[in-house]
Amino acid sequence: MLLKNKVALITGAGSGIGRATARLFAREGARVVVVDINAEGGQAIADEIRTAGGDSLFIHADVGKMEQVRALIDNVYQHHGRLDIIHSNAAASIGGTAPEISEADWDWTIAVCLKATWMIAHCALPRMLAGGGGVMIITGSVHSIRGYANASAYQAAKGGVLALTRSLAIDHAPTLRVNAILPGAVETGLWKDVTLEQRQKIAQHCILRRNGQPEDIANVALFLASDLSAYMTGTYLVVDGGLTSVIAVP
Ligand SMILES: NC(=O)c1ccc[n+]([C@@H]2O[C@H](COP(=O)([O-])OP(=O)(O)OC[C@H]3O[C@@H](n4cnc5c(N)ncnc54)[C@H](O)[C@@H]3O)[C@@H](O)[C@H]2O)c1
Repeated sequence: MLLKNKVALITGAGSGIGRATARLFAREGARVVVVDINAEGGQAIADEIRTAGGDSLFIHADVGKMEQVRALIDNVYQHHGRLDIIHSNAAASIGGTAPEISEADWDWTIAVCLKATWMIAHCALPRMLAGGGGVMIITGSVHSIRGYANASAYQAAKGGVLALTRSLAIDHAPTLRVNAILPGAVETGLWKDVTLEQRQKIAQHCILRRNGQPEDIANVALFLASDLSAYMTGTYLVVDGGLTSVIAVP
C-alpha cells in the first residue's frame, strides 16, 4: 500500500499506460481519478477498479481545453477535497514534417501533449500546495531526448514537457516533487495501426528484445508517485528496454 488514501489524478487513463497506472495506483490504496476524452474507456477502468474493491471516479474531460481542465480540477476538489498526485499522461499523436502538418494539427498536438500539463498545473497547484503539496509525474517520451522522422509537433511537445518538468520542480520545491517518465516503444492504443511484423522489428531494436507493455511504465510511475523516490525531482527516467542505449547499424 504505497499510496494509501492518496488522491491521484491520471489523464489518458482510459487506455494504455494511463489505464495500467490507474489499476496499479488503486491496488496500492490510492483514490484514483480517471480522466479521459474517451468516455467508454474511462468509465470501464473506473468501474473495474470499483468492482475490485478500489476507489475510483471517472471524469470526462478534454485536457487540451482550459475551461475543461478548470472544471476538472474543481470537480476533484468538490469530490475529494484534496489532490496528492497528478500523472499528466494523455497525448494526441499527429505525425508530419514541418511543411506537412497543418497549423490546426500543430496547435492541437501542442495543446494536448504540452500545454495540458501547464493548464493542469496552473489550475491545481495553488490548492495542492496550500494543502501540503504532493507529486507530479509527466509522461514524456524517448522523443523528448532523441530524434525521429515525421513527428515535428509531437517531438517539440515532448521536448517541452521535459523543460516544464524542471521548471515546475524548481518553482515549487520542496512542497512538490515533479519528474518525467520517458517511455520507449510500448504496445498501447497508440499502436493500433502497427502490424505484428512491425512490432517484431521494433522489438529487435531494444536491448531486451521486446516492446514495452503498459505495466512496465506503470511500475515506474508508482515508484515516482511514492516516497520511494523521495529524493528525486526535476529529472526523468527512461523506460525503454534499452532502445535509446544502442546505436542501430543497418
Ligand atoms: N505507446 C508508446 O509507444 C509511447 C511511447 C512514448 C510515450 N508515450 C506516451 O505515453 C502516454 C500514454 O499514451 P499511450 O501509449 O498509453 O496511448 P493510448 O492511446 O493507449 O492512451 C492515451 C489516452 O489519452 C486519451 N486522450 C487523448 N487525447 C486526450 C485529451 N485531449 N483529453 C483527455 N484524454 C485524451 C486517449 O483517449 C487515450 O485513452 C502519452 O503521453 C504518449 O505520448 C507512449
